[in-house]
Amino acid sequence: MWLPCGCTSKTIVTSYARRVFKSYFCVFGRWKCNVAALMPEAVGFEGVKDCSSLQEFSVSNSASFWAAAARHRLSWIKPFHMVQDCDLSLGRIKWFEGGQLNVSVNCLDRHVHTCPERVALIWERDEPGSEIKVTYRQLLEMTCRLGNLLRRHGVKKGDCVTIYMPPCPLAVASMLACARIGAAHNVVFAGFSAEALAERIRDAQSSTVITVNQGVRAGKVTELKRTVDAAVKDCPSVQQVLVAMRTENPVTMTAKDMNMEEEMLKEDVVCEPEAMDSEDVLFLLYTSGSTGKPKGVVHTQAGYLLYAALTHRYVFSYQDGDVFGCVADIGWITGHSYSVYGPLANGGTTVLFESTPIYPDPGRYWEMVQRLKINQFYGAPTAIRLLLKYGDQWVQKYDRSTLKTLGSVGEPINTEAWEWYHRVVGDGRCPVVDTWWQTETGGICITPRPSDPDAEIVPGMAMRPFFGIKPVLMDTEGKVVTSNPASGALCLAQPWPGMARTIHNNHQRFIETYCQPHPGYFFTGDGAYRSKEGYYQITGRLDDVINVSGHRIGTAEIEDVVNQCSAVAESAVIGYSHDIKGQGVYAFVVLKKDADDQEADLSQQLNNMVSKKIAKYACPDFVQIVQRLPKTRSGKIMRRVLRKVVERDLDGLDDLSTLDDPAAVQEIIQGHRELC
Ligand code: WTA
Repeated sequence: MWLPCGCTSKTIVTSYARRVFKSYFCVFGRWKCNVAALMPEAVGFEGVKDCSSLQEFSVSNSASFWAAAARHRLSWIKPFHMVQDCDLSLGRIKWFEGGQLNVSVNCLDRHVHTCPERVALIWERDEPGSEIKVTYRQLLEMTCRLGNLLRRHGVKKGDCVTIYMPPCPLAVASMLACARIGAAHNVVFAGFSAEALAERIRDAQSSTVITVNQGVRAGKVTELKRTVDAAVKDCPSVQQVLVAMRTENPVTMTAKDMNMEEEMLKEDVVCEPEAMDSEDVLFLLYTSGSTGKPKGVVHTQAGYLLYAALTHRYVFSYQDGDVFGCVADIGWITGHSYSVYGPLANGGTTVLFESTPIYPDPGRYWEMVQRLKINQFYGAPTAIRLLLKYGDQWVQKYDRSTLKTLGSVGEPINTEAWEWYHRVVGDGRCPVVDTWWQTETGGICITPRPSDPDAEIVPGMAMRPFFGIKPVLMDTEGKVVTSNPASGALCLAQPWPGMARTIHNNHQRFIETYCQPHPGYFFTGDGAYRSKEGYYQITGRLDDVINVSGHRIGTAEIEDVVNQCSAVAESAVIGYSHDIKGQGVYAFVVLKKDADDQEADLSQQLNNMVSKKIAKYACPDFVQIVQRLPKTRSGKIMRRVLRKVVERDLDGLDDLSTLDDPAAVQEIIQGHRELC
């Protein structure tokens, strides 16, 4: 049994609910009509007559814009008295102070009042055709039981619960149950290893972990509970582990473990929501930076929810009754904002995708689109590139006429993939929205839509800033570039409600990473190009963070593990262009004097270590043993040089004057040729 609380797998949306929903939302249909249709709360904003004037207004009158949106879109327990109190140069970011609300009430109760039988979640399980639908009423019931269960086991406002689960209704209910009782959640991607999980549990100081007995993906079972067992051994803070049963296979239970569904059945279906201040923590989400230690990015209640809701509605033109299909895992920010919080705050129907793009065959996404009648599909370029290689027939086999918007996220989408997505998947009918954002931004910041329906979209460009977002490009001297076309470091010139507030337990790191590089601006770590028309294209990270299959990982994190190998003296890890994954991992390794340089063994050994300590996706594709690494005279590894070697851009290797020993580069070039 997987769905507790008497949920049935088929739930019908009542015609009454449809009518209520429709009358409320149909006004959002088209852009080119009056302002009330554009955005009801914008009526009365001076000079606003269309989408681009609304964008301008939202930037130059940020407080009025966000105040109106917050009053209109969120249900408040107590109204806020201050819209924003921010100083980017100090890392002080506060929105909607004085206000109180509960995020789970905003995502559930208010929809249950109007349309309890509307489907909130469609759990697209691994086996095609075995989906399970959960209504708003059922999800509220699950959330309340779970909230009561957590409370009964001592979880209080301000605690942090770690969730290690694949996408499923109980994972969403766990997130919302935390929100209901005022605890923060810390969802850890269920592909992370026991050590990576332990590190995140320890940093978050969780007393409670929620998991499943086993995961099921692409027909394979993974022992998630066993991973949790191994992790909690090294986490003295953990007092209890709630275990949901995804499969019927029993797992060994320890003294700390509880069967989650059995315990939930003992709980009441009513759970008093905690009144939360706007700036109380909603969740931590660990992400990679340019140093070895992952950082717990902190998002708070009101601003995050408002931003997720508004971007979900406007970027994708989400309308009444649409089925929103975001295929990201809930362990990443995309899953948080666009599988869970954005759609649920908007009273939408959202898909939780448990499988892979090629299980049981490369038609999986499109068969799902047909079966679930998905209207907006949101996925990663790495999957699009993979599917493109299998050919058009896997797409054309299925009816995709329900699709209205196609979204891309997580990494740059190359023109070939963009065009295939547009022409083949969307039959040339659907706008492709290449959305740029980050864990730290909370929601989409640069995107082709919203804009007038006929406004131009250039393949491979993220295009325009969302409401309230003011991007700028910085030159190498730290000055804002005003002319077009231009390239530079992408910064955001003013705060917005969805932005991260701090790094858990390390505000100084937050300031140093995002606020200090360009004082007064939020530094994104990405480079961007702005065309003469003013459209943005993201060119990639400026730091040592790489993006493997849309998963963000710091090269320093991988080096940390590689350096722990007893044969390794030192290493340098870089990303290189990879056809499918976007970027692959390339490790340069210097062996200790007495080490045996069996390259094949070493690769195997390093792969084992990286998958054990981080996750499989972070494993090096290539390991090149070198005598020495190129370094500056002050001893810094010159990764720029290594990248050029691997990209075979030897002409770009012009300036080696700062190298301590330029001969090192020739050896590396030779070794690279032999390896590839
Ligand atoms: C990259 C994922 C190009 C970027 C939502 C960013 C992109 C990092 C795009 C954040 C895009 C995300 N085009 N690059 N449309 N979207 N990125 O935190 O380098 O996992 O800084 O958030 O992904 O990754 P994160």
